[in-house]
Amino acid sequence: MIRRMVTNPMPQFPAGFLWGVSTSAHQIEGAADTREPSVWDVFTAEPGRVKDGSTAAVACDSYHRSHEDVALLAGLGVDAYRFSVSWPRVASPGGLDFYDRLVDALCAAGVRPVVTLFHWDLPVALDWLERDTASRFADHACVVAERLGDRVAKWITLNEPAEHTLLGHALGVHAPGRRLMFDALPVAHHQLLAHGLAVRALRAAGAGDIGIANSHGPTWAASESPEDREAAEFYDLLLNRLFSDPLLIGRYPEGFGELMPGDVEADLKVIAEPIDWYGINYYAPTRVGAPHGAEIEFGGLSLPAELPFTVREIEDRPVTDFGWPVVPEALTELLAGFRERYGDRLPPVLITENGCSYQGVDDQERIAYLDGHIRALHRAVEAGVDVRGYFVWSLLDNFEWAEGYTRRFGLVHTDFETLERTPKASYAWLRDLLRAQR
Ligand code: FCB
Repeated sequence: MIRRMVTNPMPQFPAGFLWGVSTSAHQIEGAADTREPSVWDVFTAEPGRVKDGSTAAVACDSYHRSHEDVALLAGLGVDAYRFSVSWPRVASPGGLDFYDRLVDALCAAGVRPVVTLFHWDLPVALDWLERDTASRFADHACVVAERLGDRVAKWITLNEPAEHTLLGHALGVHAPGRRLMFDALPVAHHQLLAHGLAVRALRAAGAGDIGIANSHGPTWAASESPEDREAAEFYDLLLNRLFSDPLLIGRYPEGFGELMPGDVEADLKVIAEPIDWYGINYYAPTRVGAPHGAEIEFGGLSLPAELPFTVREIEDRPVTDFGWPVVPEALTELLAGFRERYGDRLPPVLITENGCSYQGVDDQERIAYLDGHIRALHRAVEAGVDVRGYFVWSLLDNFEWAEGYTRRFGLVHTDFETLERTPKASYAWLRDLLRAQR
């Protein structure tokens, strides 16, 4: 069944469509002893925080093996590689040398560097509850742009401020491990402000082609009942629109602006600084219903009883080994929804992450997942959404945050004992797909 589906020819994407893969510094680099510590180093050192008790001290050791990673990218035939710079490494003596060499190697291999400036590994001395962190981030952006700006193809300010706020500061299951619930909202505001200040700083440093990587997914009400619909609407505001409305229409969803710190109106002008493109990380939709007054366990998270919603299972769908439902058509729905909501205010879109966790090297399920999602993306393009690129998460199996090394998202298998890389079936499949798109 899976094999039959994927033998249908993939429709052609528009000329110039950008195909890539994504990673992040903390998840692959290792060599933690060659940089300053981040909040993730502190968090993973605390017992019980990471499922398999692991840390990212070595991870894929990409710091020492980036030549292998670049060779894998070249063999795959991607146009672009999205990686992040570790802020603590950039702040360490000589830290930028590593990225300078990596960018050169990518350019020599014909792969365009797409740089994320922050992918959750905050230097330990900083805190997103503090407004000043936003200015410090703009300084960091400037330092990186001055060194790499002549060769970087695209800039991403932040990765998923929604997840970093929710998981790191509201629920405490990611670094820095705070369980502040709604008191975490300033963390969202300060990251959005940081984004806007960084856009300005990058442009002032002569860098262009700037976007963000925001996580989004359709929210489906558990039923048509007013209670379920209201709960789903709230969830959608909190996890989707809280992070897209300020950027694209310069305001917070109703009721949220009052909860944010500082001169919110003035900050929104900075936050809404026009961007060149909007990045979306998409994995799955969420089914949401009215709260039932008890703590629930969902997708590895324990959601407190006081939340004004619950998250329910999406039935009759295959799930990845992370338990995430596989719903490709929700990607078409998501993009059509963005186009409808933001109209001409929506700049060109890039899918900056999409992928799935499965075990094994003969990963036919991953092929089916990617095939379905790329077709769903094509339907959105046909329907008139201006999508300019697609990045698979991830190049190689890596440190999956609180899940440690138990989840494998890679097109390439990593043996975490020997650090040997082995391309999976999905790697060959994507390589062939990209060849057919040229
Ligand atoms: C996203 C993160 C990325 C990775 C994938 C599976 O939320 O941006 O680092 O963990 O999920």
